[in-house]
Amino acid sequence: MTHLGTDLKRHLYRGRTPARAVEIRDLREMARRRLPALVFEYLEGGAEEEITLRRNRTAYDEIALMPRMLRRIGGTSLGGDLLGRPAPIPMAVAPTGFNGLLWPKGDLALARAAAAAGIPFVQSTVSNDPMEQVAAIPGLRHWMQLYVFQSQQAVEMLVSRAEAAGSEALVLTVDGSVFGNRPWDKRNYRTGTEPTLARKLEMLTHPRWMIDLIRHGQPVFGTLAPMLPEGKGDMVSATGWLRDQMDPDLDWDRVAWLRRIWPRRLILKGLLAADDVERAIRIGADAVVLSNHGGRQLDGVPSPVEVLEQVAPIAKGHLSLLIDSGIRRGSDIVKALALGADGVLVGRAGLYGLGAAGTPGAMRAHAILREEAERTAALLGCASRAALGPDCLFRRAPA
Ligand SMILES: Cc1cc2nc3c(=O)[nH]c(=O)nc-3n(C[C@H](O)[C@H](O)[C@H](O)COP(=O)(O)O)c2cc1C
Repeated sequence: MTHLGTDLKRHLYRGRTPARAVEIRDLREMARRRLPALVFEYLEGGAEEEITLRRNRTAYDEIALMPRMLRRIGGTSLGGDLLGRPAPIPMAVAPTGFNGLLWPKGDLALARAAAAAGIPFVQSTVSNDPMEQVAAIPGLRHWMQLYVFQSQQAVEMLVSRAEAAGSEALVLTVDGSVFGNRPWDKRNYRTGTEPTLARKLEMLTHPRWMIDLIRHGQPVFGTLAPMLPEGKGDMVSATGWLRDQMDPDLDWDRVAWLRRIWPRRLILKGLLAADDVERAIRIGADAVVLSNHGGRQLDGVPSPVEVLEQVAPIAKGHLSLLIDSGIRRGSDIVKALALGADGVLVGRAGLYGLGAAGTPGAMRAHAILREEAERTAALLGCASRAALGPDCLFRRAPA
């Protein structure tokens, strides 16, 4: 790892006990070692030059904090309301597809960790476990993510299932109708979904993952299974079929229609532009997630945290403002809150934990983020969410 001077060599945690992971990057390293390259690349990669993927990190790194001293910060808590219900930290688990590749019954495993942390779990349309099973986890705040397919009937079916399952919110992803271009991921496959021989052989060098796969079988699209055509049930053929079902003509009229048929909270995920947020307000959305899909869709766009300050005054009083993409530290959460976000979603940070050790790994990821966020707030001199604002950030005086 990094060398400091001549004799200090730093390294990450090399064991398998999630409780001993000190930071998210320890969990990442544990996941990297357990997972075959093809799966880790899927989890990690971004679109094209990965400019946006990198920018999601540098944008947070470049925000400097300005602490205040001597301010009674005993019992710092960032708990409070998150879309109408209390949460110990304003954080939710982002929707991610194919979690079953990272861990057997990966959606259930990740959702159990979310329930234990008291935070919402957003289940992906392309999840591997059926939404009804996940939503039934005791104590879970279940939010259902929706990719809009061309078939109106398919969309209606998913929406009514989410309502029957008791989902608290529908999270409509609006930046995914056209599939992003991820060359590193593509190179792992000979044809569309058939891994190259080299990648297949490499899988054999990850026996812990292989044994789980053999024992539990290949994951399937648990939520979409009842809607797949004959012969498209396995993940390889279903993936190709699903890509063709996405609706590239998704527009605001369709969102307005969804608003009419969905009676609970509606969240639009994947906006960046201020005028899109204004439109989301007019359509009656309850929240938006500023997101660039973790750098996996359009490369070259800004990081959501860069647009936050411009969007926050527009959203205030009209809808909840959530943000994701690039959050790897509790201090990132504090920075987002200070810039006006009402909450954050975390994608890869929790997935590293899941891929490292299942539910205990994901629980560790959530705990690390919460501990770090609370410690950062305390070091800043802020004992609560209300105390976090732009004055917690350092800005150079204009020259
Ligand atoms: C492996 C992976 C799969 C994803 N699958 C979905 C998905 O099915 N639906 C969706 O709306 N977003 C999906 N996303 C995007 C996430 O919801 C979220 O926007 C992103 O991960 C946030 O960035 P972060 O990973 O840097 O936290 C996925 C992201 C990853 C990393």
